[in-house]
Amino acid sequence: MSTPIDQTDAWKALQAHYEQIKDTHLRDFFAEDDQRGSTFALEHDGVYLDYSKNRLNAETLRLLHELAIQADLRSMIHGMFSGEKINTAEDRAALHVALRSPSDSHMSIDGNDVMPEVTRVLQKMITLAHKIRNGEWLGFSGKPVKNIVHIGIGGSEIGPHMACEALGGYAKEGLTLRFISNVDPANFLAAVQGLAQEETLFIIASKSFTTAETIGNAQTARTWLMSAVGDESAIAKHFVALSTNTEAVATFGIDPENMFEFWDWVGGRYSLMSAIGLSLMIAIGPENFVMMHQGAHSMDEHFRTAPLDRNMPVTLALIGMWYTNFFGTESELFVPYAAPLERFTTYFQQANMESNGKSMRSDGTPVTTSTGPIVWGTPGTDAQHTFMQHVHQGTHLIPADFILFKEPHQNIDSQHAALLANALAQAEALAFGKTKDELKSDHTDENLIPHKLMPGNRPSNTLLLPKLTPYTLGQLVALYEHKIFVQGALWGINSFDQWGVQLGKHLAETILSELEKGSSGKHDSSTSTLIQKIWS
Ligand code: F6P
Repeated sequence: MSTPIDQTDAWKALQAHYEQIKDTHLRDFFAEDDQRGSTFALEHDGVYLDYSKNRLNAETLRLLHELAIQADLRSMIHGMFSGEKINTAEDRAALHVALRSPSDSHMSIDGNDVMPEVTRVLQKMITLAHKIRNGEWLGFSGKPVKNIVHIGIGGSEIGPHMACEALGGYAKEGLTLRFISNVDPANFLAAVQGLAQEETLFIIASKSFTTAETIGNAQTARTWLMSAVGDESAIAKHFVALSTNTEAVATFGIDPENMFEFWDWVGGRYSLMSAIGLSLMIAIGPENFVMMHQGAHSMDEHFRTAPLDRNMPVTLALIGMWYTNFFGTESELFVPYAAPLERFTTYFQQANMESNGKSMRSDGTPVTTSTGPIVWGTPGTDAQHTFMQHVHQGTHLIPADFILFKEPHQNIDSQHAALLANALAQAEALAFGKTKDELKSDHTDENLIPHKLMPGNRPSNTLLLPKLTPYTLGQLVALYEHKIFVQGALWGINSFDQWGVQLGKHLAETILSELEKGSSGKHDSSTSTLIQKIWS
């Protein structure tokens, strides 16, 4: 049993230090050090992190890094990169970094180099992507396939969906890409609306190939295809699978030749850069997909090798813990100032909350500290017109991450300066607020002063990247993945299992069969009454 993090000397020192600085205002931190804006910052390969608008000083950072040292974070990072079975409950490695490692590198699990297999599947994906993009993959009628419908859920859907939207400007013209995740048939109907069966390829993405929603939607897709052709042999031309489960793929009726494998050491929510990204590769092209790998690899190498106190994922993780564990905050806000990153928050909501929403440590003992925060958000400037009022003047302290790109996306530069100005203004207003005196000198109506008072002292990080590209998206994904890893490792939890989702799945199966049979089993009085109401 490893020492719980809150029993380390560094934790105790942080508690004492928190008592000393908890009320210091960001105005005072900035007044003490006129270089703070540039010194409380890190840069790696074009990614600039300004963490100066956080309620901490150099001593806080020293103690936080000391915490990482005392918890032996360095060897935990080494363990992940060397293929150790850090997903202890499932006896699996978590080696998603191998997916974006150069093909001539070596990454091993149990002494077996995984890179030849990773490269083989990548090549197979590239061949398929070229065929579709060149109009050489023909449907049952001999017409080229030009509609791709990706069916999956959770980690098998959110990542490629997020990235396809983020990199929409790189998508090949003439290809239609749609996503289906929800078991609600409305999702299926909307996705196939206006598509012709003869031109549509379904990509069935499921690590387990047993997930009810995905298999249900895949069966509906098969029926939809059959309604146009009737001949089962058409399935080979209209279905491919992304999975670790060859047997279940074959049982469904998809030729294993049309299956793109990944492996149990790739967690669902860490699988975007594996075969799960096939629809993305088809849309943006293999070269751009590989650029995303390269961006992620650059961040992986930084994370693996940079000293802890100059390490961006480590610093972001420690700052997050400073708020979660010492200030007692409960959520973290993501506000990308990039409309194409609409799904980025959902993506990291799953990555964060499914990974670190745990209350047992890896060794089976209960945690004694808070763990993963609630992650939420939406792109700016929409955020400003929905929830930012609460973040500025509400009673909760909500640390925020603003993500900005210097250059406009998709070469549309009108209004880009306004986008950036709004992002900087939000971070400035949160940190420094507006005092009574300032309001008075602006001749504010006395009655309105209490309402217009902006308390400030509300923390944020600002990430500034050159432009939203496949490369920078890869960097961002890896940055936040590693932040999550660091936090989970320090809290002593297993970030790579998700037992908490199982009970609901089993109960849904039972209730579904009861709803279908018209007989209610043994339930609490609330569930039983609701079942009766559905029947009546
Ligand atoms: O939501 C639970 C979960 O197991 C996720 O972890 C996973 O990403 C998702 O379901 C989909 O699983 P699969 O890829 O096996 O269909």
